[in-house]
Amino acid sequence: MTNTNIDYDYLLKFLVLGDSGVGKTCLLYQYTDGRFNTQFISTVGIDFREKRLVYNSRGRRHRIHLQIWDTAGQERFRSLTTAFYRDAMGFLLIFDLTSEKSFLETVNWLEQLRMHAYSEDPDVVLCGNKCDLLQLRVVSRDQVAALCRRYRLPYIETSACTGANVQEAVQLLVGRVM
Ligand code: GTP
Repeated sequence: MTNTNIDYDYLLKFLVLGDSGVGKTCLLYQYTDGRFNTQFISTVGIDFREKRLVYNSRGRRHRIHLQIWDTAGQERFRSLTTAFYRDAMGFLLIFDLTSEKSFLETVNWLEQLRMHAYSEDPDVVLCGNKCDLLQLRVVSRDQVAALCRRYRLPYIETSACTGANVQEAVQLLVGRVM
């Protein structure tokens, strides 16, 4: 029997990961709803949001149904969340530009991805979030550039607060995966 309810060409599953408090849930909320929440309610386990988009490539129009999984950054949920890595086709790895620790931890997140994702070299976009907090920034562009060179990562600076580059970050990952 054919399912006539499917009105998209591709179903893409992405996953957002990074330390607790870097802004994963806020970024996702800004992406799907165009809003920002100042409250910090730590994600328990895992959650997801969905959005439709159109991706144009080589003169063709592709209708995409995007499912983005939001994982808890807290260590105690690690074994639960890594179980979801295998089903994801692309990853947004987030750190907080005002937290050097969250930036240094990206290396460990990449190692987790290497162990649990669909391949040892999955599609990843690195996002330096909270770029609106200019005065509080502690992670330099040079530090990020060195990491991106080493791991061959595309990089973008985002703000879940102002919405800067939020759509672009997801679009960048769609472009890598498609
Ligand atoms: P876990 O669920 O514990 O893994 O955390 P998370 O990464 O999902 O963090 P969350 O999205 O809950 O955001 C943590 C805090 O950072 C909240 O108080 C947000 O309001 C704040 N925040 C998130 N993104 C931004 C941003 O781009 N700019 C600013 N100024 N604050 C942000």
